Amino acid sequence: SFPEQVSIVEVGPRDGLQNEAVKLDAAVKAMLVDKLADAGLKRIETGSFVSPKWVPQMADSDAVFAQIKRRDGISYSALTPNMRGFEAAQAAGADEVAIFGAASESFSQKNINCSIQESLERFAPVCEAARAANLPVRGYVSCVLGCPYEGDIDPQQVADVASKMLEMGCYEISLGDTIGTGTPVKTANMLQAVLAKVPAKQLAVHFHDTYGQALANLYVALSMGISVIDSAVAGLGGCPYAKGASGNVATEDVLYMLNGMGITTGISMESLLLASKYISDTLQRKPASKVANALLS
Ligand code: HMG
Ligand code: MG
Repeated sequence: SFPEQVSIVEVGPRDGLQNEAVKLDAAVKAMLVDKLADAGLKRIETGSFVSPKWVPQMADSDAVFAQIKRRDGISYSALTPNMRGFEAAQAAGADEVAIFGAASESFSQKNINCSIQESLERFAPVCEAARAANLPVRGYVSCVLGCPYEGDIDPQQVADVASKMLEMGCYEISLGDTIGTGTPVKTANMLQAVLAKVPAKQLAVHFHDTYGQALANLYVALSMGISVIDSAVAGLGGCPYAKGASGNVATEDVLYMLNGMGITTGISMESLLLASKYISDTLQRKPASKVANALLS
């Protein structure tokens, strides 16, 4: 059966913009975050405290955090690959942090320059510091349905990394189909392996829509009891270390499907479209969301 309520984690300002060719001002990113908050999104990934050499687009995340109009009841989160990132996120006032690992050795090397085992060793002190500071930690596992360097990934490997992150103190594990190659039955098999080690209520799914499979995969995840979905307004996104990966599934498209299923989210489509139009106009392109294109034309 499907959940009655779904929590959407908006990753547009981070995953969406980290790979943009044009440099956006912090003020634009902060405005996007505020418009997403207006739409009723309660969890907004606002930035990333990573090396500016690796991801220059996120180098001004502290300025973005400084410029958002903070509201009660909203969690503004940030990626933190190491202690240095954690300290910067804490100083910027992030409400939640996220560590990010992978189920693929090659992707781990390309994305964060270390092995999976080394990454877990780096994440442990971040989790400890976050616990001491009372900040919730989310754990990402990338490449859960395929890797740009290795191809197929064993679902057991996904389950193994996910459960290690859970043991480390993450309250939620987000399973990332980084390059969007997953299909529904493959998704079901992967989730079955992970659910044997991590309860559904501590899982989120993070689909990129490169091959147009994201909504079908989401439907499968919902049917298996998962009720936290990552998405990006206007279908923004891509990972700089996953060539060819297109945007995250569009928040508008996810909302349309959930509305059609009678699942509550607390998000207003009308206001969400304003956020979509704002960032698409700024980037001078049409949103990569079927729903936005249908409703905005
Ligand atoms: P490294 O080179 O192994 O680490 O990078 P290092 O400790 O040797 O540091 C190298 C340089 O970075 C040094 O500067 C450090 O000071 C600096 P230098 O001496 O050369 O001038 N540095 C930092 N600067 C700012 N903030 C920091 C920080 N740490 C070190 N926190 C590192 C390791 C992890 C830092 C690097 O590989 C990195 O930043 N990677 C980030 C990659 C990234 O952000 N990828 C995109 C996000 S993941 C994703 O999109 C997938 C996801 O959406 C889920 C999915 O779709 O599957 C989450
Ligand atoms: Mg992603």
